[in-house]
This record gives sequence, C-alpha cells and structure tokens, in this order.
Amino acid sequence: MLILGALPAIACCDATWSEAGDGAPGAAAYDPAPASCGGCHPQQHAEWAASAHARSARQPTFRALLPEVEASWGAAARAACERCHAGAALEPEPAIGCVTCHAATGNRGTRDGRLTVLAGAPLAGPTGAAAGAPHATRDGDFLRAPDLCGTCHEVTGPRLFVEPTLTEFRASPAAAAGLTCQGCHMPRTPDGHTDHRFPGFRDDALVATALRLDVAPLPGGGARVTLTNAGAGHAVPTGATLLRELWVEVDAGDGPRRVITLGADLRDAAGVRVTLPTDAATATIAALAPGESVAADVPGTGAVTARLVARAVEGELAAALGVEDDAPARVIATARLPAR
Ligand code: HEC
Ligand code: HEC
Ligand code: HEC
Ligand code: HEC
Ligand code: HEC
Repeated sequence: MLILGALPAIACCDATWSEAGDGAPGAAAYDPAPASCGGCHPQQHAEWAASAHARSARQPTFRALLPEVEASWGAAARAACERCHAGAALEPEPAIGCVTCHAATGNRGTRDGRLTVLAGAPLAGPTGAAAGAPHATRDGDFLRAPDLCGTCHEVTGPRLFVEPTLTEFRASPAAAAGLTCQGCHMPRTPDGHTDHRFPGFRDDALVATALRLDVAPLPGGGARVTLTNAGAGHAVPTGATLLRELWVEVDAGDGPRRVITLGADLRDAAGVRVTLPTDAATATIAALAPGESVAADVPGTGAVTARLVARAVEGELAAALGVEDDAPARVIATARLPAR
C-alpha cells in the first residue's frame, strides 16, 4: 500500500485565483452565465448542471467545513478554499462554469488554481470553427490538455488540503499510453458531443471500473482478498483524500469485519487520532497508486464474501459536520469464494 506520507503543515497558498484579464484584443462580448450558453448548447449545459463542477461552491460538505477552517486556520485559509471552488472571477455565480474552462488561455504555474481566464476570450473548442456562433472561437489545445484540469486538481494547501492528482497522473501508465483526464472523464456520447457530467467518487459505476476485488483460496487453507487499482489514471482515492473512505469487509460466516481500509489517518500534534482535518497536525493517506494492490488473508475453509464499500465523507467526520445525507456508505463490488 502506498502511504503518501505524513504531510507537513503547509502555509496557506499564495495563489491569486484566476485573473480576469482586460479582454482579448477584438473580443466579442458574450454573456458568461452558464444558462446563457445553455440556450444554444443545451446538452452540455444539462450535463454540466448535474456535475460536481456546477455545485463546487455549494456542496454541503464544503459549506460545513468552511467555518471550521476559519476557526482553526484563519480567514485567509477560508478565502483560499472559496476562491478555488468559485471558478474564474468572471463567473456570474461561483462555480466551475463554462467560461472557466472555455475562456482559459493558460496558467501561471500548474497548481493551486492559477488559471488565466480572459474576459471575452474567443471560446476554445474542438474545431475552432464558429459558423453561426455569436461568439468567436479558437482551437482548444489547452482545453484538451491535462494541464487545464491539473491547474486546479493539483492543490498544495491550505495546510493539509494537499491533492496531487496531476502529479499522480503524470507518473501513471495511463499518461505514458497517451491518455488524458478528458479522455477518461469526458467520453464522447453516442451523438458525438463531449460528456460534461464529470463523474467522480460519488459515481459507483466509475469507482467500480477503477478497483478490482478478488478472493482466491490459499494453498494451505484460508483465503486471500486483494484490492487493485486497475483502472484509474491516478491514485485511488485521489483529490479530497482527507475526506474519502474506502474499505473491504469480509464475512466468513461470523459477521462482517474490515480487513482493508483506504483513506486518511488524522492525528493532532500529540499523535492522538482526531476526526476533523482542521484539528489535525498530520494526515497519513492510504491510497493505491495505478496498478498497485493491497491484500489481506482470512483463515478457515468456509465460504467467504468480500464487499468493497465507499463513503464520500468518512463516517465520524460526516456525523461531526452533520452531512450524513451527503455521504451514505455504498457497496461498490462484491466477490465470493465458496466453501472449499
Ligand atoms: C486550488 C484549488 C483548491 C483549493 C485551494 C481547495 N480545494 Fe477543495 N477541491 C478542489 C478540487 C479540484 C476538488 C475535487 C477533488 C475530489 O473530489 O477528489 C476538491 C474537492 C473538495 C471537497 C469534496 C467535495 C465533494 O464533492 O465531495 C471538499 C469538501 C473540499 N474540496 C473542501 C475544501 C476546503 C475546506 C478547502 C480549504 C481548506 C479547499 N477545498 C481548498 C480544489 C481545491
Ligand atoms: C446564440 C447561440 C449561442 C450562444 C449563446 C453560445 N454559443 Fe457557443 N456556439 C454557437 C454556435 C452556432 C456554434 C458553432 C456550431 C457548433 O459548434 O455548435 C458554437 C460553438 C461553440 C463551441 C465549439 C467551438 C469549436 O471549436 O468547435 C464552444 C466550445 C462553444 N460554442 C461554447 C460556448 C460557451 C461556453 C458559451 C457561453 C459563454 C456559448 N458557446 C454561447 C452558438 C452559441
Ligand atoms: C472543466 C472544464 C469544462 C467546463 C466547466 C465546460 N466545458 Fe465544454 N468542453 C470542455 C472540453 C475539455 C471539451 C472538449 C474539447 C475537445 O475535445 O477539443 C469541451 C467541449 C465543449 C463543446 C464542443 C462540443 C462538444 O461537446 O464536444 C461545447 C459546445 C461546450 N464544451 C460547451 C460548454 C458549455 C455550454 C459549458 C457550461 C454549461 C461547458 N462547456 C463547460 C471542458 C469544459
Ligand atoms: C477552475 C478549477 C477547475 C478546473 C479547471 C477543473 N476542475 Fe474538476 N473540480 C474542481 C473542483 C473545485 C471540484 C470539486 C467540486 C465538488 O465536488 O464540490 C472538481 C471536481 C471534479 C470532479 C468530480 C470529483 C468527484 O469526486 O466527484 C471531476 C471528475 C473533475 N473535477 C475532473 C476535471 C477534469 C477532467 C478537468 C479538466 C477537463 C477539470 N476537472 C477541470 C475544480 C476544477
Ligand atoms: C485511465 C482513466 C483516467 C484518467 C487518465 C484520469 N482519471 Fe480520474 N478517475 C478515473 C476513475 C476510474 C476514477 C474513479 C476512482 C476514484 O474515485 O478515485 C477517477 C476519479 C477521479 C476523481 C474523483 C477522485 C476521488 O477519489 O475523490 C477526480 C477528481 C479525478 N478522477 C480527476 C482526474 C484528473 C484531474 C485527471 C488528469 C490529471 C484524471 N482524473 C485522469 C479514471 C481516470
């Protein structure tokens, strides 16, 4: 198992979030509101509206954490959380909206949301053609690049909020094979447009494609339960690992018990386990790198049932924040071995 390490307490990020530029030369004015784009691009809008990007500033766990962040780490840390989750300055409502990606022209460092988004920039797209469009368009080299996603999905704080998804991706076999974030997370739909739903940790089917659960008999009796990151282009979990919880429970006829746990172990300065990330001095993250496995052995020769379970927010943390509704435990996969 990969232990991403006892992370140092990093000072609050120095990023100035997404400059609203003076506008590209000769830029046509267009309304940056997603609903306005949706008038002519209804499918992309409907998919995006159901995505995590649309609710990034309103998500219940995010809202519940903000007062804790302010109380423990100060107002500047809270402002850093809000800035990155609000998207570009020119979004009329805080969200990772259409223009945050389509009017982005580059970045000032591939981390911490340092995206450059220019008001009125021609909108980047697959062809750069704009027949009949009320807005200018340009070819989307940067839009298709993992660096667009990675400018936000590579977080170095505040404090323990460290999310190296882009770094994990760059080291992955998926990157070596030429895959991109967009290729896995924005597949083509049957009608040929790009899927804008951005499924993530809350999508059972996607998580099931990432992880393989096996139970096999051991030569001397007993069984081995193995969990493998077989399908993600980064660690599992990645990103919001301080919150996520994934475990394998095994039932060998005597009731379920956990044998493998992925997620964060939070400790205060005295080394005592704590629930809130804002009370922690260190976080040790148990995650599986691409291709990596973790195994546990179960004694006996009776039937064995193994279940992979996920919670978007770890149980005690969800209870402490009052967001249990946002984070039910879900069974992602089941594997069985008959009595030998
Ligand atoms: C530089 C950008 C950036 C900063 C700063 C940032 N985040 Fe995030 N946050 C992200 C990204 C990207 C994700 C998506 C990763 C994932 O879901 O695994 C995310 C995910 C989350 C989630 C999970 C939401 C869900 O749907 O489950 C929560 C909660 C959250 N962040 C809280 C915070 C808090 C609190 C802070 C400040 C202490 C913060 N974030 C700072 C970029 C950022
Ligand atoms: C009044 C209708 C209308 C509005 C409003 C509109 N568009 Fe378009 N857009 C078009 C048409 C027409 C095209 C060209 C044909 C096509 O690709 O659908 C186009 C093309 C595009 C393309 C593809 C460019 C390419 O390279 O192929 C993107 C991306 C795009 N628009 C994004 C947006 C965004 C983001 C907004 C809101 C800020 C928006 N559009 C608002 C009509 C509109
Ligand atoms: C997180 C970044 C992101 C956000 C947010 C986003 N898009 Fe896109 N969009 C993309 C990418 C990436 C492509 C595919 C580009 C390519 O393949 O060349 C794309 C493609 C498109 C296209 C071209 C047709 C297609 O579907 O392939 C349109 C039109 C479009 N987006 C409109 C929108 C609208 C409208 C919104 C807001 C409701 C939006 N996008 C939000 C990243 C984004
Ligand atoms: C402007 C910053 C920003 C950009 C650019 C961006 N994201 Fe995100 N993304 C976020 C934030 C913040 C969240 C967390 C939203 C939440 O869960 O509340 C998020 C959430 C997600 C999720 C859902 C995670 C989950 O567990 O549900 C996926 C998947 C995702 N992003 C993929 C992408 C991809 C692929 C791209 C590039 C095409 C991209 N993002 C570009 C900031 C960004
Ligand atoms: C080979 C396909 C593949 C590639 C490439 C890929 N992902 Fe993923 N991603 C997945 C799968 C499968 C999952 C579900 C497992 C999980 O939630 O960790 C996932 C989950 C996520 C999540 C939710 C993670 C969590 O644990 O909360 C985010 C955020 C994300 N990806 C962002 C990205 C970004 C950003 C990139 C590019 C830097 C990227 N992904 C590249 C397949 C891929």
